[in-house]
Amino acid sequence: MFKLGWFVNGFSPKTWSGPWAGPQKTEWSGADFWVDHARALERGGFDVFFMEDTAMLEDTYGGSLETTLKFAEMGPKNDPMPLMPLLAQATSHIGLVSTISTIQYHPYMAARLGATLDHLTGGRIGLNVVTSVSHRVAQNYGYDSHLPHAERYAMAQEWMGAVGALWDSWEPGALVLDEDEPRFADHTKVHPVDFVGTYFKTRGPLNTVPGPQGHPVIAQAGGSAPGRDLAAKSADVMLGLVNSPEEMVAFRADMDRRLASYGRAPEDLHIFFMAHAYIGETQADGQERFDRVQRRRFEPDEIEKRLWTMSYASGGEIDYSRFDLHAPVPTEIGNGETTTLKALVEQPGKTLYDVVTGPARFGFDFVGSADSIAEQMNDVMAHTGRPDGFLIQGIEDELTRRSMAEIADGLCPVLKKRGYIRTGYSGRTFRENLSLFD
Ligand SMILES: Cc1cc2nc3c(=O)[nH]c(=O)nc-3n(C[C@H](O)[C@H](O)[C@H](O)COP(=O)(O)O)c2cc1C
Repeated sequence: MFKLGWFVNGFSPKTWSGPWAGPQKTEWSGADFWVDHARALERGGFDVFFMEDTAMLEDTYGGSLETTLKFAEMGPKNDPMPLMPLLAQATSHIGLVSTISTIQYHPYMAARLGATLDHLTGGRIGLNVVTSVSHRVAQNYGYDSHLPHAERYAMAQEWMGAVGALWDSWEPGALVLDEDEPRFADHTKVHPVDFVGTYFKTRGPLNTVPGPQGHPVIAQAGGSAPGRDLAAKSADVMLGLVNSPEEMVAFRADMDRRLASYGRAPEDLHIFFMAHAYIGETQADGQERFDRVQRRRFEPDEIEKRLWTMSYASGGEIDYSRFDLHAPVPTEIGNGETTTLKALVEQPGKTLYDVVTGPARFGFDFVGSADSIAEQMNDVMAHTGRPDGFLIQGIEDELTRRSMAEIADGLCPVLKKRGYIRTGYSGRTFRENLSLFD
């Protein structure tokens, strides 16, 4: 068996034009569209709805906001945190992960928010802990520029330590709720944390009672060595960006080694590997859909979007509009999503044009009928021999009510019938449900 997550690249417009967009260009900023999405995922048997976040409008590419705002690339974007309890009210079981940045949230604010959301979602909240990749985010939060990559992760490790200490500042049994004595809580079991680090100080204790999970589920996506260490030490869920079963096996083995060095077992970390599903009524329909998307990569608008994405992934350091498209691809990788950019630029002999019109290299592409895709997914997952998961993202970030139905009502029933994914949720919390197949 394996798990399923859906990755939404931010609380922002997705498919806002075209035949299946519906009213999305205005509807995206409210709750209804996302409620429909979360409900569809739960109907399908998904483990987690996962929402990315970045607090900026990127203007590195071409030194202007034009490309960002023309295409609605990673913006405009609402804050995903307030959306989570609304999704929880409309669903009963699915895990809800929202992104939290270590440069945007002081540990006390993060710990308090995480505990509050754990209560409001009935123990179904997860936090995707990120360091933020762009100078633009850092500049929005009072820095002149973002910290170097290694320091960002050092700061994130410290942040996790402080947040964890705050969540532990209430011992088990601290909440008494004795009306007769009277005693709401036992003051001998609630302690200051007096955390003093290089980046953060916090006194504690937290003024929020621990939620149903105690610690919300922690997710981490960075694939560099320090990113993997952060996940190995502190995360329950990791997002894996690999492009072949061989890379997937190596990724899992590397994470198992790192987990062991922190005294943790392989089953303590659930890895969700990025994937896309090109579903058709028949194998040929799915293939035609895949081919159509591949052909689109050569259109000028798509080339501009890919160059824009590379500028974003460089952390806002490299303006890819400056380069000759037909010269060798520049190999610098900047200070941002180093793993993503490395995979693109470390292709010797390729021009920038080859890279931006080449394969996306953003996870597995499953192509064909629902039956065929179900078998492909099962075959790939068998390589690690573990009940990890796939984190499905819309094709080219497409998201419409049609694409929700294709997955929830097309693919998922086939996966369930073959016994590849869950058919129900017997755990009470997100964390409990994650561990059910281990
Ligand atoms: C699938 C995926 C999702 C991510 N989600 C976010 C996000 O929501 N917000 C953010 O600032 N960074 C996000 N990142 C960036 C990572 O947290 C990390 O900073 C980045 O991958 C660079 O880390 P690395 O150099 O360790 O690879 C995401 C990365 C991946 C691969």
